Amino acid sequence: MRFRCGDEAVATEKVNLGEKLALFADHWSPKVVGELNGQHVKLVKFVGEFVWHKHDREDELFLVVKGRFTMEFRDRHVPLGEGEFLIVPRGVEHRPVAAEEVHVLLFEPATTLNTGDVRDERTVADPERL
Ligand code: NI
Repeated sequence: MRFRCGDEAVATEKVNLGEKLALFADHWSPKVVGELNGQHVKLVKFVGEFVWHKHDREDELFLVVKGRFTMEFRDRHVPLGEGEFLIVPRGVEHRPVAAEEVHVLLFEPATTLNTGDVRDERTVADPERL
């Protein structure tokens, strides 16, 4: 059953991350798999280097579901493995980099644009819902 109140939706059915991850293969294209309190729960797969960017108004949480990646900041690099998460504060420049494909859960305000203050070919303005 699914309840709706305004543009918020709360699902009472569980979500299986493995099942959702099996539904897509494209990289750098977050998929919305849940939402609550104006926040999105998203899943994304990526490999390689993303674009340097920041979000002026949103904090972003990255939780590694499978694989590993490094979150680069201008002054340091933070390696993340399975079961680890990192919160990138608003206004802080960052760039995710993965040597091999990684599967990541994102938790962030629904207004968050994946490339932040940068627009390029990987910008996803309206992420798909799974
Ligand atoms: Ni970001």
